[in-house]
Amino acid sequence: MKNSPSPSRFSMKVTETTNAQALGFFVNQDEKRAPVPATGLPGIADPMLKGSPFKGAAKTTLFLRSTSDEPHVLFIGVGQKKELTPETFRLAGSAAYSKVQAEGAESFAISFDELVKAAGSKLADACLEAFLHGYGMTAYKFDKYKSEKKEAKILKIEVVASGELKKRAVAMLNRAVIQLDAIQIVRDFSNEPSNFGTPEFYASEIQKICKAHGLKCRVLNEAAAKKEKMDLFLSVGNGSKRESQVVIITYEPKTKAKKTIAFAGKGVTFDTGGISLKPGARMEDMKHDMTGAATLFGATLAAARMGCKNRIVTILGFTENMPSSTATTPSSVVTARNGKTVEIINTDAEGRLVLGDVLDLCCDEKPDLVVDVATLTGACGIALGKFCSALFVNNDKLLKHFHAAEEKTAERLWQLPLWDEYFEDMKSATADMMNISSDGTGGTIRGAIFLKQFVRKGTDWAHIDIANRASDNPVVPYHPRKGASGVYTRFLTELAMDFE
Ligand code: BES
Ligand code: MN
Ligand code: ZN
Repeated sequence: MKNSPSPSRFSMKVTETTNAQALGFFVNQDEKRAPVPATGLPGIADPMLKGSPFKGAAKTTLFLRSTSDEPHVLFIGVGQKKELTPETFRLAGSAAYSKVQAEGAESFAISFDELVKAAGSKLADACLEAFLHGYGMTAYKFDKYKSEKKEAKILKIEVVASGELKKRAVAMLNRAVIQLDAIQIVRDFSNEPSNFGTPEFYASEIQKICKAHGLKCRVLNEAAAKKEKMDLFLSVGNGSKRESQVVIITYEPKTKAKKTIAFAGKGVTFDTGGISLKPGARMEDMKHDMTGAATLFGATLAAARMGCKNRIVTILGFTENMPSSTATTPSSVVTARNGKTVEIINTDAEGRLVLGDVLDLCCDEKPDLVVDVATLTGACGIALGKFCSALFVNNDKLLKHFHAAEEKTAERLWQLPLWDEYFEDMKSATADMMNISSDGTGGTIRGAIFLKQFVRKGTDWAHIDIANRASDNPVVPYHPRKGASGVYTRFLTELAMDFE
């Protein structure tokens, strides 16, 4: 039981009629009255009459409890029509789940027709998908290690639609479910305690999931990684009795691939800092240090299930950073897969050592784009807070793809510079480079400029540092207040889908 996935807390379907216990109605702030009369529900007053504080503003809801056999009614504010975006509906979906669940209803329905009226026909499909995302993401709980489990209550959501609208609703619901499944995997992986979430655990879970979905998956153990000359990666796991694993997932589209995207993920299953040991306070959060790898696996799986037209090669380096008599010592010099030598000054700057070799292996695939994702630096949160993560690109022409995915998903990134001057004081007296700078400034940029040394000339590359948002990210209501957020799974899925 312990290592089985946590149960999904929602079920979704499109129906022509509904017997749901609660019905949701979208209310625009600029409408004079709520859409209730059109539904023919007896006994429901217009919530916007008689000085009610509910005005249909975004992020507000009003629940009316039925005292008869009629369903309860939930009014969901979506604000001014001209201002609304899919994110408005994602937040509305989140608020709807929280409210319906708190009020004890077990099934909930919305009408796609009503949503089209509230959102406008141009945005309606994207807003429906977003609403389901908000609803499903909010339904997540990680309680597989609670001895007394509350019964996993499943909250049903039905989308009422018929005719042409039904087809559109089914298409959006299918996309939403695929992405919600992926986010569930990402969060479960990230939340896994470090005594269970070992490199071998993730490698074998990923192999199982790949098999179930017809994805190619190859695992390199330490001997195989050694043959690949991945000594920089292997140096991180030297102090751990748990064997490091490199997981390589390949997705080939049915028809000839348009482009190849390579994904490189940091999968440090626990980061103690190694010999450069971290302080004790909140060290437990370092179980989330494999979230870059988890996020890329989720996005690869979702894009594959959505029939992505691009080829995707995803390479994930899983290892545990521990202190011991066999651990890498500061001053050690290690030769990377690309032949460059690194003097390891601080064993806590280990993510870049993992990704250096993984990025070089990615470059062997001659990809049109390489994207690495990592919880790389604590400095990322100091620079950016909690509402966006850091983006680096070695070619500004790539930015349009990233901005498009941001617009679709409302998962924000902020570009930081990659000027080579930042590398100057990372040159080593003994080896080609050190793994940290000598003055400790610009931590997030230093991590990125180090990684740049492992990206082959002519390869388009982007680096995303998610250290500030991978876990405990309560700024967004559809992320759990505590633990893994699953953020950027949707972003990376859209990036893979749309890249051309
Ligand atoms: N995994 C950490 C980064 C991190 C910190 C992620 C906080 C999430 C929350 C990374 O391996 C690390 O330890 N980075 C060091 C780098 C330093 C030694 C140059 C850091 O940020 O302190
Ligand atoms: Mn570290
Ligand atoms: Zn780390």
